[in-house]
Amino acid sequence: MTDRYAVVGNPVAHSLSPDIHRAFAQQTGENIDYSRIIVPAGQFNEVARLFFNRGGRGLNITVPCKGDAYQFADKLTAFASRAQAVNTLALDTAGLLTGDNTDGRGLVADLVDNLGWPIADKRLLILGAGGAVRGVLQPLLEQGPRELVIANRTPTKAADLADQFTDLGAVTGGGYDDLLEQAPFDLIINATSASLAGDLPPVPKRIVDGNTRCYDMMYAAQPTVFMTWCREQQCREAIDGLGMLVEQAALAFALWRGKQPATTSVIESIRALLAGKPS
Ligand code: ATR
Repeated sequence: MTDRYAVVGNPVAHSLSPDIHRAFAQQTGENIDYSRIIVPAGQFNEVARLFFNRGGRGLNITVPCKGDAYQFADKLTAFASRAQAVNTLALDTAGLLTGDNTDGRGLVADLVDNLGWPIADKRLLILGAGGAVRGVLQPLLEQGPRELVIANRTPTKAADLADQFTDLGAVTGGGYDDLLEQAPFDLIINATSASLAGDLPPVPKRIVDGNTRCYDMMYAAQPTVFMTWCREQQCREAIDGLGMLVEQAALAFALWRGKQPATTSVIESIRALLAGKPS
């Protein structure tokens, strides 16, 4: 019987995950079925239970259900525990559900391996202090940046979040005004949901110079507002988060199937697919 997997969340209609996992399955010769399942508000547990009761083997979990999946899992990886969020559920042979969070490792794989943007000993700035940031802090800090600054519209959220990760490295948090005292960063990661609304976080121009690399965790057929702003400041390079999406999926696929797919060609094909979709 074909093993069943799915992405669950709300919305999921435009999720690229089925395309990505079908490409991985074809490449590795695995026989899987991968679908999209919409989760009505407050019904994650019902949807997930039904899926696994009917023989499903694994789920990818997207917004806004990662916290629900964190509660639902029988056991958690260290990454999921730190993130307090689960983006991958995998059924093991004993019938227990492991909850993992592959977002941060996916981001690091894209930055370091695909793009060749080093993190070790660099000065990093992350914009935002929500679930998306919590999900990536551990793997980023494990790369050994010289400094990681979290800036957020609500400064106390950034400071509180930073406080919870100081055991892993030099991380501090504050507001956008605090950036007025900072020198330009080596790497800036936009993890706010501002991009979704086409907004730019209120960042001062001085944080970007010709050496700064800029990464938007959001992705789109067109450059995001943040990428466009960074390029206007003559940054070194700016890219969106499509590579992170594919890399986090590859880690989920490896957890499910025990095979690590190659990602470069899949990033290219998904980029082409995205470019051809109506926006
Ligand atoms: P996610 O799980 O995607 O991180 P979230 O927890 O709702 O979603 O967090 C959204 C993040 O984007 C927050 O850091 C939010 O700032 P606040 O904590 O001050 O709300 C940030 N954000 C959303 N819209 C923004 C905007 N227009 N400008 C700046 N930051 C914004």
